[in-house]
Amino acid sequence: MPVDTFEEIQPIMLAKEQPSFVRTPTIENTIKRALLYLQAGYPVNFSGPAGTGKTTLAMYTAAQLGQPSLLIHGEDEFGSADLVGGEFGYRKKKMVDNFIHSVLKTEEDVVSRWVDNRLTVACKHGFTLIYDEFTRSRPQANNVLLSVLEERVLDLPAARGVDGYLKVHPNFAAIFTSNPVEFSGVYRAQDALLDRMVTLKLDHYDRDTEIAITMAKSNVSMSEAEKIVDLVRGLRDEKKDGFTPTVRAAIILGKIVKLSGAKVSSADKGFVEYSLDILDSEINTSHEKTNGEIKKRILNVIKNIC
Ligand SMILES: Nc1ncnc2c1ncn2[C@@H]1O[C@H](COP(=O)(O)OP(=O)(O)OP(=O)(O)O)[C@@H](O)[C@H]1O
Ligand SMILES: [Mg+2]
Repeated sequence: MPVDTFEEIQPIMLAKEQPSFVRTPTIENTIKRALLYLQAGYPVNFSGPAGTGKTTLAMYTAAQLGQPSLLIHGEDEFGSADLVGGEFGYRKKKMVDNFIHSVLKTEEDVVSRWVDNRLTVACKHGFTLIYDEFTRSRPQANNVLLSVLEERVLDLPAARGVDGYLKVHPNFAAIFTSNPVEFSGVYRAQDALLDRMVTLKLDHYDRDTEIAITMAKSNVSMSEAEKIVDLVRGLRDEKKDGFTPTVRAAIILGKIVKLSGAKVSSADKGFVEYSLDILDSEINTSHEKTNGEIKKRILNVIKNIC
């Protein structure tokens, strides 16, 4: 039996000021545009290859809206219940008799209990929905978003027990992130959905931004960060064998340099070893020739840069 009391997923309040968030002119500009589109009532989709800052920018932009947020990660197994909500029903009841101490009764039963999921909660209260990697969910699971974004109405299953639809709160905002369709495990989003959002296409950050991020996240000095970033960018710019190390590799290498006390130099055996481990981890191949080739290229770039 449907019930009229709902449990709700609780939102989170993201801090507007995030000390480790780096704001360079490129980032400022991206955020300014995203906030403008959101203010005009359009959802924003940060789209780009791995490690281009999509999730970080989505969270930071959501924080700037100053209202509670709900986060969803897209995945293959998703159905619309994972967005809207569904019936969950298990209850355990323990009864202790205050008069007859030896009486303890435990009841377990299954009752239909509707639980609103994140999209419904965000639409109802006017929260911000951050839907990370939304194209990892099958397109059918995301169909429910079409009327939310266009007609500002959410269709709800009859099992929820009240009106069949919910009018979307005027403060509701949606921020998406997605990998380009060529990435494995990614579905092509339906055109109708893409048509209802503004997509900001991101690429790897510029050199200055990557240096600033590496310094902020690993605490290495400017000159160390410069060399580490040039190493990563040098390999990425070769665009060979699908080997595209990201700013993540620069952050990890920076943290290891800091922790181990290694010198950012081709003369430091430890640094060369760590660079090989970390940069080589970014490519997933057991092809011996490719592996050997990449190792050689990493060593070459290290020699040229530091
Ligand atoms: N503006 C920023 N300030 C500080 N750190 C940042 C910033 N942008 C990105 N980063 C850092 O760079 C790394 C990659 O960013 P992020 O995880 O957001 O990328 P992504 O595009 O979501 O990657 P993926 O597609 O793999 O999920 C993270 O470690 C993140 O903390
Ligand atoms: Mg991400």
